[in-house]
Amino acid sequence: MAPHARFRLRSAAHLRDEAGRLGLDIPFRDDVSVLLDRAVIGGGAVPNRLAVLPMEGADAERTGAPSASTLRRYRRYGAGGAGLIWCEAAAVRADGRSNPSQLMLTEGTIGGFSRLVDETRKAAGKARGSGHSPLLILQLTHSGRFAKPEGTPRPLIVQNNPHLAPLHGLPPDHPLVSDDELAAIRDDFVEAADLAASAGFDGVDIKACHGYLMSETLAAHSREDSRYGGPFENRTRLLLETVRHIREEAPGLLVTSRLSTTDLVPFPYGFGMDPDEPDRIDLAETKALVGLLARAGAGLVALSMGIPAWKPHFGRPFDTPVPGGAVPDEHPLEGVARHLALAAEIQRSAPGTAVIGAGYSWLRALGPGVAAAMVGTGRSAAFGLGRGALAYPDFAADLIGGGRMSSRKVCTTCSLCSHLLRRQRPVGCVVRDPEFKNAAGEGSLA
Ligand SMILES: Cc1cc2nc3c(=O)[nH]c(=O)nc-3n(C[C@H](O)[C@H](O)[C@H](O)COP(=O)(O)O)c2cc1C
Repeated sequence: MAPHARFRLRSAAHLRDEAGRLGLDIPFRDDVSVLLDRAVIGGGAVPNRLAVLPMEGADAERTGAPSASTLRRYRRYGAGGAGLIWCEAAAVRADGRSNPSQLMLTEGTIGGFSRLVDETRKAAGKARGSGHSPLLILQLTHSGRFAKPEGTPRPLIVQNNPHLAPLHGLPPDHPLVSDDELAAIRDDFVEAADLAASAGFDGVDIKACHGYLMSETLAAHSREDSRYGGPFENRTRLLLETVRHIREEAPGLLVTSRLSTTDLVPFPYGFGMDPDEPDRIDLAETKALVGLLARAGAGLVALSMGIPAWKPHFGRPFDTPVPGGAVPDEHPLEGVARHLALAAEIQRSAPGTAVIGAGYSWLRALGPGVAAAMVGTGRSAAFGLGRGALAYPDFAADLIGGGRMSSRKVCTTCSLCSHLLRRQRPVGCVVRDPEFKNAAGEGSLA
């Protein structure tokens, strides 16, 4: 591992040299046109292969309905030209909210979600022409051990985990959610998916990453005497049942999942880790799961990794940690290379599935060239930006119009959006969005 460093790459040649110095495989292509054509990704038609990845805004109404700021965010994404807008985590029930301002999809809030779909599509059509209609996928979630429905922790845990327990001061024998309760939550996902279809979304994502409830079932090796813990078949049951039930209930709806390829939490407490070498990544189960998801009807997966509340740098390589956070003991380009390598490995093992990776924002304006090389060589299906899209919602329009992103508009990976989310404050880019310029300076953020 090389020491952490800030971004200083001025050109593709510089990126190549730095990757060479660090011994990393970072492919690059000047011509990004492979990202710009119409395509079908995992069964969904997209006007281009540019995607906005889900980014919680923590700005919903108390009811869970999108607020005026939520709608502004999605209008900006719509107008920005991305072909796929993967809408942020929306809770399927109240005790699953990550904060009191997380979106929540229920009978009572469906009108607000229809409006979000409508305004996003209208903004897209107005800015890009009536032929441009982005694919809209809504991420559905239960925050599980990270639930804070009233602002303070109310963890619902699938297994006791000595690595994550200290985050909330949980005792080693904290009570576990029952199998019956897990089955009830599965049904809430199915109901929410139905509502998402009625609201006009093209698809839903059963969020199974970042240590939240569904993702924790995948890692629940130590859960005993349970339909949802222990052997692989049991740990994957809740996710697969959810996907199958949604396919039955809403056959016209695209069903996808955002998976952590690996939790990077040592075996037996993390998914995607090696039983013989607990700190080593092992993708055997992840590959098997992606195959089972495809068979169950989910042929599109978005990949992430790690548990952001525990070690955020794995999922979001950055220059600067959140205030008070640790500087990681690896170079951010190593983190980016890990994202690329794992996405490529999963895509290679599942050629019929569309794989969308993450972690490109640290590359700033060099991201599209790397993504073009990934997509052009069949190592993934699209270029997705999370923090990068929050900072630069019209990145797609600039790529379509001029083949490049502006280095003056890119995300600086300052982690202040993560900080806002942790503080349960509305999330925006304090560096690039004039409406958020003062957010980081507010005393309550310190
Ligand atoms: C403030 C913030 C909110 C996020 N919210 C979500 C979310 O709702 N769902 C999700 O799957 N990932 C979420 N992520 C992770 C991003 O989608 C993305 O995987 C991560 O930022 C790395 O990609 P990037 O380098 O393009 O930012 C969030 C990240 C940040 C910083």
